[in-house]
Amino acid sequence: MTVVVLGSANLDLVYDVERIPAPGETVLSLGFASFPGGKGNNQAVAAARAGSDTRFITALGRDENGDRLAAEARAAGITLLDRRTDAPTGTASIYVDRRGENSIVVNSGANAELTDLTAPEREAIAGADVLVLQLETPVPTVAEAVRVAKAAGTRVVLNAAPSTAVPLNVLRGVDVLVVNEHEAAELTGPGPDPMAALTGHGCAVIITLGGEGALVGVPGQAPVPVPAYTVNAVDTTGAGDTFVGAFAAALDGEGLEALVAATGFATAAAAISVQRKGAVPSIPTLEEVREFRDAR
Ligand code: RIB
Repeated sequence: MTVVVLGSANLDLVYDVERIPAPGETVLSLGFASFPGGKGNNQAVAAARAGSDTRFITALGRDENGDRLAAEARAAGITLLDRRTDAPTGTASIYVDRRGENSIVVNSGANAELTDLTAPEREAIAGADVLVLQLETPVPTVAEAVRVAKAAGTRVVLNAAPSTAVPLNVLRGVDVLVVNEHEAAELTGPGPDPMAALTGHGCAVIITLGGEGALVGVPGQAPVPVPAYTVNAVDTTGAGDTFVGAFAAALDGEGLEALVAATGFATAAAAISVQRKGAVPSIPTLEEVREFRDAR
């Protein structure tokens, strides 16, 4: 399976706190560490660790953080298609509380400079089985990547995170849309059945439900629930990205059954990741996911 991920790379600056500060409040951190992160980078690492041949299209600054992210992505087995920009490498300030919940502010930096696709990047997308996208990079580039993928018959998985308006022409080119409940509601607006509203665009939809698992839907069929694993979460940062990358790597075949199988694998990968700290360091390998599932 060849997976191309196009998206963001950030250095995550992670502060452990008793609780997330309220507006106007200052709190002292209980600990600090920096880790590779960024939704695109996390998803690429998750796909690579789940066993796929993974290429990652991203933008990094010409700086130490960029060198660190590039080196760690390569160490994870990813083929990097990176461009270096005058803007600094993206960073994310992340507060993680005692319950493992987080609050994140991203400074896009170089990620905002990913405004076009080079010929080798188009070739990589056209030659892939699956293209994985999120919304931390400029939406016109996401739209262009979808066009290249559709023309070549590459399947498109869009993780519509963070919440941003997705143009209809982009949505129409998506094969599998992955969103959490909040993102689903942002895309559909108020209404009783976000799954029906989203599958109404013609794509398969996975709504992740945190500790409740996920719901898998395809147009015209009843959605299928996939249960979660009960684990003790210490840090949920990157769990959604682990899900998306692992899902893309495990997506083997068409139809509801294949989607449910890949979602089961991705749910296990995410359950492992929330028990560890940091985004990239928490992402499990294929063997770890298999062992975890076998033990249950
Ligand atoms: O989804 C988690 C990621 O969001 C973090 O790694 C951070 O960099 C932000 O992009």
